[in-house]
Amino acid sequence: MGVLNSLTAILALGAVSNAVHIVVHSDGGNKTSDTPYGLMHEDINNAGDGGIYAELIRNRAFQGSPLYHANLSGWTPINAAVLSLKQLSTPLSSALPNSINVAISKNSSTTGSIGISNDGYWGIDVRKQKYKGSFYVRGDYEGTFVASLKSALTNETFGSVTIPSECSADQWVQHNFTLIPPKAAANSNNTFTLTFTPSGAASGSLDFNLISLFPPTYKDRENGLRIDIAEAFAALNPKFLRFPGGNALEGPNLQYPWNWNETIGPLKNRPGRPGVWGYQTSDGLGLVDYLNWCTDMELEPILAIWSGLALDGAYINETDLQPWVEDALNEIEFVTGDVSTSYGKLRAELGYPEPWTLKYVEVGNEDWLAGAPSGFDSYKQYRFEAFNTAIKAKHPEIQIIASPSVYDNFTVPAGAAGDYHPYRQPDNYYNEFHKLDNLTSSNLTLVGEFASVHPNGGIDWDGNLHPFPWWIGSVGEAIFMISTERNGDRVIGATYAPILRNMNRWQWSACMIEFEADTSKTTLSTSWHTFQLISTHQITHTLPTTPAEGNTTSLFWVAGKNEGADGFVFKAANYNTTNSEPTPVNIKVEGVEKGTRAQLTLLTSDGGPFAYNDPATGNNAVVTTTKVVVADGEGVFGFEMPELSVAVLDGTKGYGKAKEGV
Ligand SMILES: *[C@@H]1O[C@H](CO)[C@@H](O)[C@H](O)[C@H]1NC(C)=O
Ligand SMILES: *[C@@H]1O[C@H](CO)[C@@H](O)[C@H](O)[C@H]1NC(C)=O
Ligand SMILES: *[C@@H]1O[C@H](CO)[C@@H](O)[C@H](O)[C@H]1NC(C)=O
Ligand SMILES: *[C@@H]1O[C@H](CO)[C@@H](O)[C@H](O)[C@H]1NC(C)=O
Ligand SMILES: *[C@@H]1O[C@H](CO)[C@@H](O)[C@H](O)[C@H]1NC(C)=O
Ligand SMILES: *[C@@H]1O[C@H](CO)[C@@H](O)[C@H](O)[C@H]1NC(C)=O
Ligand SMILES: *[C@@H]1O[C@H](CO)[C@@H](O)[C@H](O)[C@H]1NC(C)=O
Ligand SMILES: *[C@@H]1O[C@H](CO)[C@@H](O)[C@H](O)[C@H]1NC(C)=O
Ligand SMILES: *[C@@H]1O[C@H](CO)[C@@H](O)[C@H](O)[C@H]1NC(C)=O
Ligand SMILES: *[C@@H]1O[C@H](CO)[C@@H](O)[C@H](O)[C@H]1NC(C)=O
Ligand SMILES: *[C@@H]1O[C@H](CO)[C@@H](O)[C@H](O)[C@H]1NC(C)=O
Ligand SMILES: *[C@@H]1O[C@H](CO)[C@@H](O)[C@H](O)[C@H]1NC(C)=O
Repeated sequence: MGVLNSLTAILALGAVSNAVHIVVHSDGGNKTSDTPYGLMHEDINNAGDGGIYAELIRNRAFQGSPLYHANLSGWTPINAAVLSLKQLSTPLSSALPNSINVAISKNSSTTGSIGISNDGYWGIDVRKQKYKGSFYVRGDYEGTFVASLKSALTNETFGSVTIPSECSADQWVQHNFTLIPPKAAANSNNTFTLTFTPSGAASGSLDFNLISLFPPTYKDRENGLRIDIAEAFAALNPKFLRFPGGNALEGPNLQYPWNWNETIGPLKNRPGRPGVWGYQTSDGLGLVDYLNWCTDMELEPILAIWSGLALDGAYINETDLQPWVEDALNEIEFVTGDVSTSYGKLRAELGYPEPWTLKYVEVGNEDWLAGAPSGFDSYKQYRFEAFNTAIKAKHPEIQIIASPSVYDNFTVPAGAAGDYHPYRQPDNYYNEFHKLDNLTSSNLTLVGEFASVHPNGGIDWDGNLHPFPWWIGSVGEAIFMISTERNGDRVIGATYAPILRNMNRWQWSACMIEFEADTSKTTLSTSWHTFQLISTHQITHTLPTTPAEGNTTSLFWVAGKNEGADGFVFKAANYNTTNSEPTPVNIKVEGVEKGTRAQLTLLTSDGGPFAYNDPATGNNAVVTTTKVVVADGEGVFGFEMPELSVAVLDGTKGYGKAKEGV
């Protein structure tokens, strides 16, 4: 007996004295949401166009609006070409009324080719891979087109393809091509060019529109997602996607809400719209594309429907609201209806006979904010009620989510849920660890957006946002995530926002992933790492602990188990400690025998509280340590958590089996 014990003590790291002692009980606790963590999409910082939407050509269809006039931005002439923006009497479609005319300069005697060049979204990533392109041309033309990917710096051509003209006078004719560059570019400062020989064009000029080029996409989806960003998302083990925004859903004014019906079908039928972040959006990433994203990443859609409030604070009066309620019902029918319904039939005609399942619909976005107090009053008085009643009557299976939460001075009607958006200083998350504990079973809450955005002690909202997620901010978020998970029977799920930022555009920071055209420069922030660790070790049931509070002065935790995998999972975040000493932690798990192994993954920073992952240098401030911890004779797992660290101790049987013999 004595021999066995001392043997175990050698194998085990051993329980530590003066430690925080936590008992994880084997019974009790609650079943938690199936969707603890997810994604939220907002076209901000070119997160959509020029971001996860894989299209490489900027301003591919000259879309415009009274807010952002159609223009030739992104396009430059090649050789003696003269470019002009046209509104032809026979446009490609009513949705895309503008096109580019490419003519030979009157003074030119060239017999060579002319054309157009596009510089992409601050460059184009050129690799030895298959690019799929297409463009529409109008005009009588005998000859060929040449599509190429070239260096903007040296004019070196990495790949070219010759496309025989299928043109016919007075018609818009689509030309498709594929291009596989035999050579990769050394950097992303590249252009896409399209040329033709003007002597073959009857009128000396041709009109072009919807000029598109896609690299390979996530799961090879047509009109799909940029692979590296999609894979960084998938690695987070997300379970839901909240779309299409955010403020993007609201639209800049009542004239331009996000109209689902104008984001579906062939790209030539999508007019695009003025986004709310200072640029026109193409709507190439539309309703069906979001749903395909859900299918491809196995995400539960959280479909946000427009609730009659625009970002400028204007809202729809009660007497005018009914058509929008109908519109929302039509949208839901488009997503979920079988082919015998009129909108289900429309979906089938677009190539999607199988309906999607919709468990969550959110009514609006942050209806407590824009136009408050009267905008919020209108939501409380009639807007939410009108949508809630109509959707519930027709779709009792759908969980309806109101855009404010119980923390926004809003009484969530019975049966509905709320949406809480805590953008915070890290200390706020520390102080508010127990905030969600008072949710009742009838106060279901989604956390549709959260992030540390201001430094501790900084000025909220009037001060600067933090440029990147930073370590103490990420640890604060981890404390918050733990607080959502321990209340996982009443919290539907939580997602960081906004997630993406193209480094050439700034509307908001901090963001979880930064990127640019060059896919090798994609930066996973400190918050990506903490989110990923906590999200990938899923808990499907909480387990009670003693002490029950889930916190000491620095250490915050949640324990649980995972359906289908015996054992336990323990997650903890350690904030500021006394004298910056590490915190020894002893975890006794009821029913665990000595010698049981669990895997500890510990995240710390190599640069203190303010370290961040800098896209300019590609550094990673997050240090990940993984080790096996063995339960001692008392069934106690002992380890230390440094100040400002996040850890998961995974003691699921699946893990133990896989690592037998470690
Ligand atoms: C289970 O949920 C109830 C409230 O729904 C809560 O009081 C209790 O602390 C939860 N138990 C655990 C172990 O999280
Ligand atoms: C030019 O057009 C693009 C593409 O539609 C749009 O995003 C941009 O805002 C426009 N620029 C201006 C100055 O209006
Ligand atoms: C490409 O190079 C040109 C010339 O050096 C420079 O002006 C431009 O900013 C570069 N663009 C990108 C996307 O790097
Ligand atoms: C690239 O081609 C353009 C257009 O033909 C020309 O103006 C430019 O000088 C060339 N640049 C280099 C580096 O050759
Ligand atoms: C071009 O490709 C698309 C699908 O990628 C297809 O729908 C369309 O019919 C093709 N057009 C032509 C002219 O082949
Ligand atoms: C889409 O729906 C909106 C709102 O019902 C409507 O105003 C608009 O005309 C529709 N667009 C199309 C192309 O049907
Ligand atoms: C709402 O009604 C008021 C009063 O009739 C009117 O002034 C306002 O223009 C209406 N708003 C909208 C968006 O129709
Ligand atoms: C909460 O809402 C009520 C009713 O709309 C309002 O009278 C009160 O001023 C609000 N309080 C806060 C703190 O917003
Ligand atoms: C939370 O739920 C309780 C019932 O459990 C209800 O009385 C209360 O109004 C809800 N709180 C809010 C703010 O909706
Ligand atoms: C929970 O506490 C918050 C304050 O943090 C309070 O505003 C809210 O009304 C409380 N909710 C319930 C259901 O007691
Ligand atoms: C820790 O939990 C206790 C309640 O058990 C609470 O009084 C205390 O404020 C909490 N500390 C923090 C930092 O959340
Ligand atoms: C934690 O330490 C940071 C400095 O690293 C400080 O800004 C912050 O206010 C401290 N928070 C608490 C709750 O002690």
